[in-house]
Amino acid sequence: KKVLVIHGPNLNLVGVREPNIYGSEGIEYINDCILAHGKELGLECDIFQSNQEGAIIDKLHQAREIYDGIVLNAGAYTHYSYAIRDAISAIRLPVVEVHLSNIHARDAFRHTSVIAPVCAGGIYGFGKNSYLLALDALKELK
Ligand code: DQA
Repeated sequence: KKVLVIHGPNLNLVGVREPNIYGSEGIEYINDCILAHGKELGLECDIFQSNQEGAIIDKLHQAREIYDGIVLNAGAYTHYSYAIRDAISAIRLPVVEVHLSNIHARDAFRHTSVIAPVCAGGIYGFGKNSYLLALDALKELK
């Protein structure tokens, strides 16, 4: 199986950004862990990061032809982007929503995910392991 991992806005700054919330491991290290875990599972993983909503939507559209599933951390877009939600619905690929932090233990505006209803499922609150658990889930998905 081929899997695309998408990091949305501000995730390029993980490690530097609010380390008390997001941890002190940088995005390169997280990406190394994703690739290593993917390899263990026999999944071929590509990783994409963008701070732009449209770029994430374009990538989701292109993924339709190439991948068997997607791991998506849409960052703050999670909470209000109907455009990303519609893109997920449009491509009909299983998308696993992930977050480093426990969004339900934080600001009220983070308690809502407008993408959750169109995702296969979601994993949040486990730091980089949220991504690794999402790979486990996609591997098992029929
Ligand atoms: C996040 C949670 C979002 O609320 C926030 O806007 C982010 C990161 C997470 O991974 O915990 O940028 O998606």
